[in-house]
Amino acid sequence: MSLKLQRDDLLPGRNFIGAWCDARDGRRLEVSDPATDAVFSTVPDSGAEDAKAAVDAAHAAFPAWRAVPAKQRAQILKRWNDLIVANQEDLGRLISREQGKPLAEGRGEVAYAASYVEWFAEEATRANGEVIPAPAAGRRMFALKEPVGVVAAITPWNFPAAMIARKIAPALAAGCTVVCKPAEDTPLTSLALVRLAEEAGVPAGVLNIVTASRARTPEVVDVWLDDPRVRKITFTGSTPVGKHLARRAADTLKRLSLELGGNAPFIVFEDADLDAAVEGLMVSKFRNGGQTCVCPNRVFVQSKVHQAFVEQLSARVAALKVGPASDPASQVGPMINARAVDKIERHVMDAIAGGAQALVGGTRLTSLGPNYFAPTLLVGADSRMACAREETFGPLVAITRFESEADVVAAANDTPFGLAAYFYATDVRRIWRVADALQTGLVGINEGALAAEAAPFGGVKESGYGREGSVHGLDDYMQLKYVCQGQL
Ligand code: SIN
Repeated sequence: MSLKLQRDDLLPGRNFIGAWCDARDGRRLEVSDPATDAVFSTVPDSGAEDAKAAVDAAHAAFPAWRAVPAKQRAQILKRWNDLIVANQEDLGRLISREQGKPLAEGRGEVAYAASYVEWFAEEATRANGEVIPAPAAGRRMFALKEPVGVVAAITPWNFPAAMIARKIAPALAAGCTVVCKPAEDTPLTSLALVRLAEEAGVPAGVLNIVTASRARTPEVVDVWLDDPRVRKITFTGSTPVGKHLARRAADTLKRLSLELGGNAPFIVFEDADLDAAVEGLMVSKFRNGGQTCVCPNRVFVQSKVHQAFVEQLSARVAALKVGPASDPASQVGPMINARAVDKIERHVMDAIAGGAQALVGGTRLTSLGPNYFAPTLLVGADSRMACAREETFGPLVAITRFESEADVVAAANDTPFGLAAYFYATDVRRIWRVADALQTGLVGINEGALAAEAAPFGGVKESGYGREGSVHGLDDYMQLKYVCQGQL
């Protein structure tokens, strides 16, 4: 079934490279609904020529855009924010249709995306440099902030609006121009956002977007990696791809922001408020059906409260309503594609073969459609299992019992990843001991919902580097220039 929006022009179905256009060779990419795998729209399947044209446009537009006063850039971003908010329903429906998340979450993601645009509209006017006390007489010394130049943004499918917003808004606020390639599974929301950016007054050439299939993505990205005019890559996605980008970007020494995979621990200590811990786990684990990089991936519960916690959690997981985004009652939608479902199934089977026990779920839900997996609760998981070593990215809770604080902190840190961690406890000394000891970029203490535009989002270790959002987010798109005036 085709998708009807209140505003038809939010489905342009074309690239934007200074103007709306098709791929140079006319190829198209089909977009399907993960609930059914039925194709409902198409976009350009772009290649190297389109990628180069996008850089040409962004490079040409850069001198004028960086010269636009910050206040004016801020006003354009504010208008973009207002338009995103005004079109929340259409954008929410688009997200849900191409990505599969329930409509309430789709609408929520639009508000989340807009919050970054609004935040960076305000930050644009605060890109202050420094006046440095000169160590010698007759001099004035300054550290000025300037935009890095053309930014290539490569965005993921799990938050088709929010991840674009939190990369493009700071880039535009800083005075950079952008070339963007959204994920092949979810290109429509990004095109709609670019349409609204155009309407908000972002000048032609400043924000360019090309869509491409999985097969042609390397062609597009290679052009951007090789082109010395692209001065920065910002990427959210897997750690192997992030490492590849870092290696290839080294040839032209581009700056990088990499928001990569996670393997978040969620720890429930015996002094925790169990009701709050269950609620926090439900919120953070089942957001977007478990398809977020900050989702708890390993759940550790201290022996004394293990039984009580598992009992409460089983009831909650079993009660989750699974279904398509179009059903207002759905709480967990389909996974993004068949590969995602295969991975979850592999993790469940591996855990059961290793001695874990499924208390809830554990199977595909083929009666609902091709890409559904039942919310699943396993107990008896351990660190050798695939679900503990790899990011599952699905509605699987695998619980490991632990005895001591020292053991659980060591286990939590026993991973190359370091994006998010969560724990529930009430002893204030333990709270700060554990918060200090966890090797992650984000820590939730008695809180399962961490992300906010005002907070610095990003990882350590192999979860990447760079921070998105907060007062630090703009600096990722700016460089410092030291200016010294003498003979005064
Ligand atoms: C992500 O999964 O990449 C982002 C999640 C968030 O912003 O909370």
